[in-house]
Amino acid sequence: MKRVGVIGGTGVYDPNWLESPQERTVETPYGVVQVVEGALSVHPGQSVVFMNRHGAGHSVPPHHVNYRANLWALKVLGVERVLATAAVGSLNLAMAPGSMVLVDQFLDFTKSRPVTFFDGRDGEVVHTDVTEPYCGESRRRVRDAGWRCDVPQVLGGVYVTTEGPRFETPAEIRAYRILGGDVVGMTGVPEVVLARELGLCYVTVAMVTNFAAGISSTPLTHEEVLEVMSANVDRLRAVLLEALPDLAGDYGCACPPSRAPVGDK
Ligand code: HPA
Repeated sequence: MKRVGVIGGTGVYDPNWLESPQERTVETPYGVVQVVEGALSVHPGQSVVFMNRHGAGHSVPPHHVNYRANLWALKVLGVERVLATAAVGSLNLAMAPGSMVLVDQFLDFTKSRPVTFFDGRDGEVVHTDVTEPYCGESRRRVRDAGWRCDVPQVLGGVYVTTEGPRFETPAEIRAYRILGGDVVGMTGVPEVVLARELGLCYVTVAMVTNFAAGISSTPLTHEEVLEVMSANVDRLRAVLLEALPDLAGDYGCACPPSRAPVGDK
């Protein structure tokens, strides 16, 4: 059985679906990370690690999230597969608010974040392949889990990552549409890239909370994002609970092993 980690994004803060939850502090070379470990109530033999991407009380903005510490902590805890949630805006009229998208590609418009574990200081230059950045087999398993619990998801989409914390201008959104973007959020990169560098199978369930700026006729607010997230959090939880036992299974995929020097369990 593989160990699965869940990174809860905006609106997904409470791992109340874990039995006997235990808080743990993990020290990493990049900083200290708090996680909750517990058993899956629907599958008691399976222990899951949960972490809040934005820290306690959603206190860390997207450009200050310590992505390297978060992924490193999951790796040292023996996690091999990661299911992340993310609130996103939509650029694609076929992906309306309430849709869940299992994104398969990203466009990176971030500007100021540490983006790699391989920063060249030890004289090693590593160029990581991201032809298939999100684990294809894990995405299909989450899609199938969604079908089983009557929460259909879109299999595939391009996640545009912006620097934030501001929302985008309508001109930016028009440009991202021309470039092929489907959804837009502020946290997808570097999280997916760092997961790949650590050899973790990584999948994001992107929950559409709004049409993006200029497509929506009203100004965007974080409150609107939170409201739509909370209206849909039960559906998202249903997918997680259905998918997590599957993600722990012994299946093969095309994700390459890690080259990073961190506890290979
Ligand atoms: N833009 C960027 N991030 C977001 C959005 C958006 O419209 N909605 C939720 N997260």
